[in-house]
Amino acid sequence: MARVLVTRRLTPGGTDPLLDAGHEIVAPNDDDDVPLTADALVEGAAACDGMVCLLTDRIDAVVLQAGHHGRLRVVGNAAVGYDNIDVATAHSLGIAVCNTPGVLDATTADLAFLLILAAARNISAAENDLRHGRWAGWGFTTHLAHDVHGATLGLVGYGRIAQAVARRAAGFDMEVLHTTRTPTGLPGYVEELGELLNRSDIVSLHVPLTESTHHLIGAAELALMKPTAVLVNTARGPVIDENALVDALEAGTLHGAGLDVFEGEPSINPRLLGAPRITLLPHIGSATVATRTRMARLACQGVCDVLAWRTPPNLI
Ligand code: GLV
Repeated sequence: MARVLVTRRLTPGGTDPLLDAGHEIVAPNDDDDVPLTADALVEGAAACDGMVCLLTDRIDAVVLQAGHHGRLRVVGNAAVGYDNIDVATAHSLGIAVCNTPGVLDATTADLAFLLILAAARNISAAENDLRHGRWAGWGFTTHLAHDVHGATLGLVGYGRIAQAVARRAAGFDMEVLHTTRTPTGLPGYVEELGELLNRSDIVSLHVPLTESTHHLIGAAELALMKPTAVLVNTARGPVIDENALVDALEAGTLHGAGLDVFEGEPSINPRLLGAPRITLLPHIGSATVATRTRMARLACQGVCDVLAWRTPPNLI
């Protein structure tokens, strides 16, 4: 039996793999559902064999060193993105890291599509007008926006989630383009990001956050997009330069945007809150009961596998 730190509350049944394997769960913040402090993470890492963490936990070299000086062998991130973990340091210390690929694709693609529709049809502004007494009645030329059906969708990144978005786009008769670092050889592949931005009516981002994708979409890239186009981000906030995005929306050189992720989340750039034609969601891409439970179980199962000297399929 091992000791596993679960940094934050998971959905009911999420920790079943740990319980089934007979491990002791240490969950100091289960009642409050707030992230552990940096000190508490260090303390927990030093005292446990495994850790199940969330994207709100910064698992940096300090935490990992503390774990290494203790008996930490594995960190399971209950998220597919793992930019919150210093994976290179973990590996150098012999600490395994796993994540949750494959179980949240459809749910996240659903949300990306929701933002595609919301951004193209300018849903948030329309609803706000109604809620705030600004709707004077049906008007032939009010709340005009742009069609999603028949539009060209440009996917930046073409992993599982992007491909799930592409499948949904087929039902909307969209032309689907994609760009990736390495050619996919698949229909719709476009080599240059600039060409994809230039040709697309809707651009949806599906790349992990790395040094090379930080501010991948900045002023220069936004300037390549059509003034009628929209930009959707369900990946990671820092992939977009938010100030450049607000500049483009304010100048009317971009029709709209839909964001589920933010550069400094949970704090939101105040300029985004005041920007026109934008839908903002609180990072809920994978937030359904079924998917979050699958993610929790997969992260816990990965931890169990490593603790039992097995190689988990979700090992990074
Ligand atoms: C959510 O953003 C995830 O990476 O799973």
